[in-house]
Amino acid sequence: MNDAEELLRAALLKVPAGLAEHVIRVLEEARRLAEIHGVDRHAVTIAALAHDLLRAHSDERLLTIAEEQGYELDPADRLAPILLHGPLAVPILQERYGIMDGDVLGAVAFHTTANEGMTPLQKVLFIADKIEPQKRERAAEVQRVAELAETDLDAAMLAYLDYHVRVALKSGWPLHSHTVAARNELLATHESGTHRRAAEAAEDSGQRTGDSGQYL
Ligand SMILES: [Fe+2]
Ligand SMILES: [Fe+2]
Repeated sequence: MNDAEELLRAALLKVPAGLAEHVIRVLEEARRLAEIHGVDRHAVTIAALAHDLLRAHSDERLLTIAEEQGYELDPADRLAPILLHGPLAVPILQERYGIMDGDVLGAVAFHTTANEGMTPLQKVLFIADKIEPQKRERAAEVQRVAELAETDLDAAMLAYLDYHVRVALKSGWPLHSHTVAARNELLATHESGTHRRAAEAAEDSGQRTGDSGQYL
């Protein structure tokens, strides 16, 4: 275990128990997906342990940190400050945890909204966060994302983002510009027939949505 991993595991002891348990489930899921997709185990370990470092912060605190960091807010960040807990962790991970790997920092930054240009590590963390066993149980669509992730990270990303957009429309949630950019990129690069069939299957599978689409 290196210094950053030790510090992150120690930090987990200070967050609410339910959040720490979620992080450990994401870690296990991310390591499993990393193994399948040839992603570095150490990098995925650090990214998973770090991803929700700021998740327990209130909206007010996140907005204050954003101002302190001079972080440029997307309109969706103002409407749903919870989305900021990914990107705002980056300077803290650099300064207090000595994490300098851009791929790992990007994984943490993008786990709330996704983004265009995501790497395999970043997709593995994003998906692992959404399909960890407790979330998977809540919606058939998320179960489908988990199945796709066994063989095709991009198909899983696209299926999850489609699901998120449907839930956002139903629930009146804002869509972050990074989420739209991520989905457009995947639509442009992923085989469209496969995606259309998957979208139709998701539509057919029912209207259960649960709340697992809320915090990307
Ligand atoms: Fe998170
Ligand atoms: Fe998470």
